[in-house]
Amino acid sequence: MEKKPLKTVIVGGGHRSIVYSQLASVKPDKLEIVGVADPDEVRRNAIARMFDIPAEHCFKTAQELAKAPKFADAVINGTMDDIHVETTVPLLEAGYDVLLEKPFAVNESEARELVEAAKKYGRKVMVCFVLRYTPFYSEIKKRLVSGEIGDIINIQTCEYVSYHHMSTSHVRGKWNNSDRCHSSMLLAKCCHDVDLMMWLMGDDKPAFVSSFGCNQQFVPENAPANSGTKCLVDCPLVDECLYSAKRIYIDHPDRWSFYVWDALEGKENVTIEDKINLLKGDSPYGVCAFKSDNNVVDHQSVLVQFKSGATGTHNMVGGSSTGRRTIHIVGTKGEIDGDFERGIFRVSLIDPSPECEFRSKTVDVNVANDSHGGGDLALASDFVDYVRGDETTLSCTSIEDSFAGHLVVFLADTSRENGGRVEKVIL
Ligand SMILES: NC(=O)c1ccc[n+]([C@@H]2O[C@H](COP(=O)([O-])OP(=O)(O)OC[C@H]3O[C@@H](n4cnc5c(N)ncnc54)[C@H](O)[C@@H]3O)[C@@H](O)[C@H]2O)c1
Repeated sequence: MEKKPLKTVIVGGGHRSIVYSQLASVKPDKLEIVGVADPDEVRRNAIARMFDIPAEHCFKTAQELAKAPKFADAVINGTMDDIHVETTVPLLEAGYDVLLEKPFAVNESEARELVEAAKKYGRKVMVCFVLRYTPFYSEIKKRLVSGEIGDIINIQTCEYVSYHHMSTSHVRGKWNNSDRCHSSMLLAKCCHDVDLMMWLMGDDKPAFVSSFGCNQQFVPENAPANSGTKCLVDCPLVDECLYSAKRIYIDHPDRWSFYVWDALEGKENVTIEDKINLLKGDSPYGVCAFKSDNNVVDHQSVLVQFKSGATGTHNMVGGSSTGRRTIHIVGTKGEIDGDFERGIFRVSLIDPSPECEFRSKTVDVNVANDSHGGGDLALASDFVDYVRGDETTLSCTSIEDSFAGHLVVFLADTSRENGGRVEKVIL
């Protein structure tokens, strides 16, 4: 029997929800967008036009949607980190299954609350850990599950956050101050990587966590001599500073445009003058990267001991010349090491032949042209299968399965705040 598309409401119409909702255009037999909830009138109206949504299915908030009679199967919740739990719980109670952006909660008690609420209301929550869906990581997962490299002894993941990504998101932008966004740098940026580590380790659960890190670079003491406070207003180094807002945003106006220019959303015929004026005014993106009100770390190392005795490390380094993720997993029969951006990994196996050497092969996955190496739409499609009760992929990110990674992140930050103290993981 032919299945009907999953009727879905967009909650929080920012750029992430729009990305997943594109499945409705690519595979209309799987997903249909039938409603929207967003307090921002410009965004609400734009989404209503995009999907031809009637006025009675447009709401100002998730909470308002939850109070209305149920008219869809599911929700894509792309609100900001700190309101994921308060917006999702009423929707679960109202009977919606939810595709929820990461991090699904910003602290341990909230995370436990959401897991319990999903259980209590018998609903499904899937978390947008898109990297699990990329051909690169899913191919590695398949090889680990097949036992190709034996039992894992050690797993190392690294994320290098490029200087322009770092300065946009974590020095000047939305995730630069945990008092406002309620996410640490590790939670906002690397809950993906820690999730990948937990997922790749399979049944071997984390037992202990420790972490170090600080903000070493983006502090006033490191500001170049004679620098101003706002790049385009009072800084003589505007054409040469590595972090100049002119160099990063005006000379490259399409880079990070969905963050930097969101204050101009809805304005017609935006000019470069409008953008310059925005950076000269109240925009956080025009502030000197060394004199911003950021309080999050710019680099952090996390060390995990698993129940089997295996160990894992994740290093996040912000301010690198390139944005990159790498992985190296060593097992009892061989190892896998690779570079996500290039979509290439190498499998090296201990050679059982008399030569007593090793055999190595390179795997080149096909990196598709979406923002997460092919992950975004594959995830949205798996969500539809998950809600329908159809077979899902190995990547499926149910909330229960996403909990360990979140907990390790929360404990790593507690450890970092306490000088690297070892924290016990109680799942
Ligand atoms: N999976 C990933 O790789 C990835 C990448 C980037 C961002 N994210 C996450 O995606 C989420 C959204 O990021 P974004 O940049 O798209 O956010 P955004 O700020 O652009 O969008 C959030 C929207 O939620 C709306 N909103 C606020 N309160 C609401 C309420 N009560 N009910 C309904 N809507 C409400 C806002 O008006 C806004 O339009 C964040 O949690 C972020 O951490 C995930």
